[in-house]
Amino acid sequence: MGHSINEAYEKLEKIGQGTYGKVYKARERTTGRLVALKKTRLEMEEEGVPSTALREVSLLQMLSESAFVVRLLKVEHVEEDGKAMLYLVFEYLDQDLKGFMDLTGRGPANPLKKEVVQDFMYQLCLGCAHIHRHGVMHRDLKPQNLLVDKAKNVIKVADLGLGRAFSVPVKSYTHEIVTLWYRAPEVLLGGSHYSTPVDIWSVGCIFAELARKQPLFPGDSELQQLLHIFKLLGTPSEDVWPGVTRLRDWHEFPQWKPQDLSKVIPQLDAHGIDLLQKMLVYDPAKRIHATEALEHPYFDSLDKSRYAKIEAAFEKENRKVNA
Ligand SMILES: Nc1ncnc2c1ncn2[C@@H]1O[C@H](COP(=O)(O)OP(=O)(O)O)[C@@H](O)[C@H]1O
Ligand SMILES: [Mg+2]
Repeated sequence: MGHSINEAYEKLEKIGQGTYGKVYKARERTTGRLVALKKTRLEMEEEGVPSTALREVSLLQMLSESAFVVRLLKVEHVEEDGKAMLYLVFEYLDQDLKGFMDLTGRGPANPLKKEVVQDFMYQLCLGCAHIHRHGVMHRDLKPQNLLVDKAKNVIKVADLGLGRAFSVPVKSYTHEIVTLWYRAPEVLLGGSHYSTPVDIWSVGCIFAELARKQPLFPGDSELQQLLHIFKLLGTPSEDVWPGVTRLRDWHEFPQWKPQDLSKVIPQLDAHGIDLLQKMLVYDPAKRIHATEALEHPYFDSLDKSRYAKIEAAFEKENRKVNA
C-alpha cells in the first residue's frame, strides 16, 4: 500500500487511450512479465476505497475467472500526487480485434478464413456466457474491447469497466466519439430496462464484421445508427417488437422492409446466417442467449475439445499465478 506504481512496474508504452484514462504496456519488475496497466477512475476516499469500488473490483476478479475473459492479475492501491488511486493490472495480449482485423486487411477482398470466424465467434460466445452467468452485462462489446492472443488463436473479452453500472459515456475523456456501431436498438431508442441481450446484439454486429471485414452498421449519430439498422432489418413495429413504440426516443420512422442477410453477408453459410439472424432479433426478450448460441448448428463442425483444453490450461496457469 502506498508505494508508487513506477517502483513495481516499468511502463513501456501507451497502448490505449481509453474512455476513462490511459492504458500502458508495462513490465512487472519482480517477475519480468508483461502486463497492461489501467488506471481506474476511482479515487479512493480518505478512509480508503469506497465500498462500491470494492464490490466492483471483486466482481471484476470473479468475471476474469475464464480463459475467454482477460485476466485481472492484481489490483494495486498506489499513491499518486498524494492521492490514493486504484490501478488494475491485466495480462498483456498482443492486440485488440480491431487491430487484428486491420492487420489482416480491410474489406471483403481480405476475408478471414471461415474457420477463424467460427472459432472466434465460439470463444466470444463462451466469454459472454461466462459474464452473463454472473448476472452482468458488458454493455460495450466491440472489436477494440476484444483482445487477441495470436500465438494461441485465443480471443478474450476485455474492458469490463469499473463503474459501467452507472453510464456508458458518449464522449470519452479525450473527446473521441464513442462508437455506436455495436449498440443495441433498445439502448439507441432510450430503453431504460435493458439487460444482457444488448451484448448479444453487439456480438451479432461483430460476427458480421468478422465475416465481411467491414462494419455492419457504421452510424455516426444515434439517429443514423438506427436508420442503418432499420434499412437492413426492416423498421420495427409492435408486431415484431411489442412495446417498441413506447420507448423514450421512439418516433415515426420511414418504413423499410427487411433485406436478405445472405446477400449482404455472402461470406456466411446458411447456418451462419441463421445464427446471425437470431442475434439481431429486435425484441430483446426473443434474442438468442449466449448459452443457446453455443449449441447452434453453425458451431457443429468445430472441434469443441479445443476449448476444454484452453480452459484446462487456464485453470493450471491460475493455480500458478495464485500460488
Ligand atoms: N490486456 C491488454 N493487453 C493488450 N492491450 C490492451 C489490454 N487492455 C487494453 N488494451 C488496449 O488498450 C485499449 C483501451 O483499453 P480498455 O480496457 O478498452 O479501456 P477503455 O475503457 O479506456 O476503453 C484497448 O482497446 C486495447 O487496444
Ligand atoms: Mg475499451
